[in-house]
Amino acid sequence: AQTSDPKITELQDWNRYLGVGVDAAPYGMPSQFEKDVVRRNVPWLTADATSSVNFTPLHELDGIITPNGLCFERHHGGVAEIPPQDHRLMVHGMVDEPLVFIMEDMKRFPRENRVYFLECAANSGMEWRGAQLNGCQYTHGMVHCVMYTGTPLRNVLNAAGVKTAGKWLLAEGADASAMTRSIPMEKALDDCLVAWKMNGEALRPEQGYPLRLVVPGWEGNMWIKWLRRLEVGDAPWEQREETSKYTDLLANGVARKFTWAMDVKSVITNPSPQAPITHGKGRTVLTGLAWSGNGTISRVDVSLDGGRNWVEARIDGPSFDKAAHRFYYDFDWDGSELLLQSRAVDSEGFVQPTKNDLRAARGENSIYHNNGIQTWLLKSDGGLENVEVS
Ligand code: MTE
Ligand code: CO
Repeated sequence: AQTSDPKITELQDWNRYLGVGVDAAPYGMPSQFEKDVVRRNVPWLTADATSSVNFTPLHELDGIITPNGLCFERHHGGVAEIPPQDHRLMVHGMVDEPLVFIMEDMKRFPRENRVYFLECAANSGMEWRGAQLNGCQYTHGMVHCVMYTGTPLRNVLNAAGVKTAGKWLLAEGADASAMTRSIPMEKALDDCLVAWKMNGEALRPEQGYPLRLVVPGWEGNMWIKWLRRLEVGDAPWEQREETSKYTDLLANGVARKFTWAMDVKSVITNPSPQAPITHGKGRTVLTGLAWSGNGTISRVDVSLDGGRNWVEARIDGPSFDKAAHRFYYDFDWDGSELLLQSRAVDSEGFVQPTKNDLRAARGENSIYHNNGIQTWLLKSDGGLENVEVS
């Protein structure tokens, strides 16, 4: 029998009264009902907030673009606050003519718009030895994907004239950590950007306002924020961030170094521990993100039984080089316990490995470059848990 729904039959306040006018919020904010959609940190991870990280709420998002206010932050020395008129970018070293640019100079270079994911090398690092954090925000949230506007790094380097012996580039940030990384010249001249806009508006302070380096597909720490210096040289500089940090200690005691590219990876964002199924059995939308530093995603498979059987998921939305891809698997949930997994394949043919395969190849000392397959246990009450299958 039909019962009447007061949400339809009774006049609601938002229908009875006028709403606020234009300019109530000169810079628009999300609905008050979305106030839980925020970045979150894990307090015990770091000693304080200035050298720390928070995480993108992947389970609350859809499509492939991360809204600016939800991009995870990773700072080694807090957020530098730089008045744009005081910012300088210096290019020197093995160049024909050392140059200093102000922001206005940067904006007179020819511009390009490109969508790229940025993933911290430490994303999923806490999950190397076993399932640890309950939610894709924490296990996989050190990734974001935005459209950058900027100029190819090669334009800036060519303006100074790179000498033939100049095979390496040092990029340095203007923040208190003076983050520095060596980048091979081949990559610098290929697809790197010097960017000042994200998703159409100025970079956020957290993301390196007024200027940052974009190093497509490569580990996040090379994307120097608050970019102030580019030095051309004939060898890598062996900075702290490429010797003691951002190397991967293998089981035999040898450390992998210069592991730049972020390998093919995916995660189911819904349902997931922070986003349980509340509608009961029946029609269910499973969705997630996949990305690879080697190119595009050519395919994503989904398993409902912990990796025994696989079905191909549907990729929807644009497929950009070195950008996030959105996948869906629409199915009828019978209410039984399931072990949900996703496995991505990239355009170079690389297949996302199981966590056991990864540990067999790299040992268990590593923090960085964990692209292993994630498993969520879906329980019959619709709740989920981070688990591992053997
Ligand atoms: N650049 C500077 N100058 N200082 C920093 O602390 N952190 C790096 C990189 N660039 C960092 C930096 C690290 S480790 C990562 S993962 C990315 O910036 C994070 O970028 P985001 O804060 O925009 O997410
Ligand atoms: Co990082």
